[in-house]
Amino acid sequence: MVQFKRSLSLVWLCILQSTIAIDVDWGDSNSVKDAAATIAAGMMSYYVGNQYGQTPGILPGPYYWWEAGAMWGAMIDYWHYTNDTTYNDLTMQGLQWQVGPHNDFMPPNASASLGNDDQAFWGMAAMAAAEYKFPNPLQSQPSWLSLAQAVFNEQMGRWDTQYCNGGIRWQIYQITGYDLKNTISNGCFFNLASRLARYTNDDLYAQWAEKAWNWLWDIGLIDKNYNVYDNTEADRLNCTTIDHTQWSYNAGTLLMGASTMWNYTQSDVWKNRTSNLLSTIVFDYFPDGIMKDVCEQHNACNVDQHSFKAYLSRWMAATTQMAPFTYDIIAPLLLSSAKAACAQCTGAPTGNVCGLKWYLNGTWDGTAGVGQQMAALEVVLGTMVGHVTPAVTNTTGGNSPSNPTAGYNASNIPPGAVVTPATKADRAGAWLLTALFSLATLYAWMRI
Ligand SMILES: *[C@@H]1O[C@H](CO)[C@@H](O)[C@H](O)[C@H]1NC(C)=O
Ligand SMILES: *[C@@H]1O[C@H](CO)[C@@H](O)[C@H](O)[C@H]1NC(C)=O
Ligand SMILES: *[C@@H]1O[C@H](CO)[C@@H](O)[C@H](O)[C@H]1NC(C)=O
Ligand SMILES: *[C@@H]1O[C@H](CO)[C@@H](O)[C@H](O)[C@H]1NC(C)=O
Ligand SMILES: *[C@@H]1O[C@H](CO)[C@@H](O)[C@H](O)[C@H]1NC(C)=O
Ligand SMILES: *[C@@H]1O[C@H](CO)[C@@H](O)[C@H](O)[C@H]1NC(C)=O
Ligand SMILES: *[C@@H]1O[C@H](CO)[C@@H](O)[C@H](O)[C@H]1NC(C)=O
Ligand SMILES: *[C@@H]1O[C@H](CO)[C@@H](O)[C@H](O)[C@H]1NC(C)=O
Repeated sequence: MVQFKRSLSLVWLCILQSTIAIDVDWGDSNSVKDAAATIAAGMMSYYVGNQYGQTPGILPGPYYWWEAGAMWGAMIDYWHYTNDTTYNDLTMQGLQWQVGPHNDFMPPNASASLGNDDQAFWGMAAMAAAEYKFPNPLQSQPSWLSLAQAVFNEQMGRWDTQYCNGGIRWQIYQITGYDLKNTISNGCFFNLASRLARYTNDDLYAQWAEKAWNWLWDIGLIDKNYNVYDNTEADRLNCTTIDHTQWSYNAGTLLMGASTMWNYTQSDVWKNRTSNLLSTIVFDYFPDGIMKDVCEQHNACNVDQHSFKAYLSRWMAATTQMAPFTYDIIAPLLLSSAKAACAQCTGAPTGNVCGLKWYLNGTWDGTAGVGQQMAALEVVLGTMVGHVTPAVTNTTGGNSPSNPTAGYNASNIPPGAVVTPATKADRAGAWLLTALFSLATLYAWMRI
């Protein structure tokens, strides 16, 4: 009897799952939009910043401040790809609430764990708002473009030639990780610079993009086969050793930056860099045509890492518009990954919660979170990239007001400024995990 009841409930569970899983007719954009709406709602169910007594813009723990910025970027994409304005007010409020006293996405509350990469994810969300013509904020508030410019200007001021002949550091303040120069910080600075160059046609930004790329290349964070590695140690080792961990988002931010530089310069050098990066991305992150980060099969992805495929998806989709010659390679990979992603969005309690292991042939991996939802959302949106308008510039309809000197005068925050953060335990813990994991498992795995 007990046996019988159990198998009956298993059958029931299967029926429940197959009826609730996210079924998509990939040829019908309304069906794809419905899927995106379901996944977006799942993601936004974690957000409570609009509730009484909560802080707008941020996510509750365990999510760090940066991931909320990334999430608003996803919501701008969501609106742009679907025309669904459901979350626009929350997005506007969240982004503007977190601009901080200098309109530069450095709110004091976030200073305990504020990396250049963290600030950049908010800056790139603002950049996307300008590029996609998200509704402009009130005139009393900083424009989307000026927020991106502020982040760029400040990070340009943090370019540090004391060690490694350049590059920006991971952390802004002297907390754990300050001694590292990492690819996501320099890569997002590059990404933002390329997009500001294209949007404003101001070549200063392009020159910095070039400089950041050259530095990543010279140090070996991009190798001659266009593998993209994670970080290098500055203060003690002068960037002579490389942590060879490979994450999808590092390669992704460079891909979009390179394709944007191609779009801006139309130089074969950037075309070549774009296609070489793309070939290596296909090889490194699409085993069997399904996007995958290396931590997945080791059950070792941390909270941050659960969201990385969101950004590779976002940036690959944008790349097809900046460099249309990449479309025929990227579009099928986004589609096969999106199909795999949706097939496994069968998790409890709603029956459409997404996990991260898209390669599991439709089996939910038992995990849930903002990162998992965001990754599935961005890859599903990416399948529609052929039908949406590309990023504008200030000569093709972009009307976000420019402020080329936006940001807190960088000379007031000298590189290496010492602050005592409220608490650094969390961030240090996350860093330690990443470091241990990368040294032990990953390095070995990548070399098999
Ligand atoms: C969104 O709306 C605009 C203007 O109404 C339209 O041109 C565009 O095709 C729509 N995009 C999508 C993805 O439905
Ligand atoms: C900073 O934290 C305080 C206290 O939680 C909150 O009231 C305020 O809105 C926060 N500011 C920002 C920009 O998040
Ligand atoms: C540090 O590395 C840079 C290149 O990455 C090199 O130009 C510089 O000479 C090195 N400095 C020292 C002290 O080794
Ligand atoms: C675009 O932005 C650049 C840099 O701010 C400015 O020089 C130029 O006048 C702008 N063009 C338009 C059409 O607004
Ligand atoms: C393009 O990339 C290939 C492979 O890395 C390289 O051999 C070739 O010299 C590059 N060509 C140009 C024009 O940069
Ligand atoms: C630059 O991007 C626009 C918008 O997607 C596209 O129409 C154009 O062909 C691209 N330019 C080049 C050189 O690829
Ligand atoms: C998924 O299915 C394919 C084809 O049936 C099979 O080759 C592969 O091993 C399966 N993967 C997993 C993780 O079950
Ligand atoms: C920043 O401040 C310094 C010193 O006060 C000044 O010389 C410089 O012109 C300022 N730069 C900008 C961009 O405002």
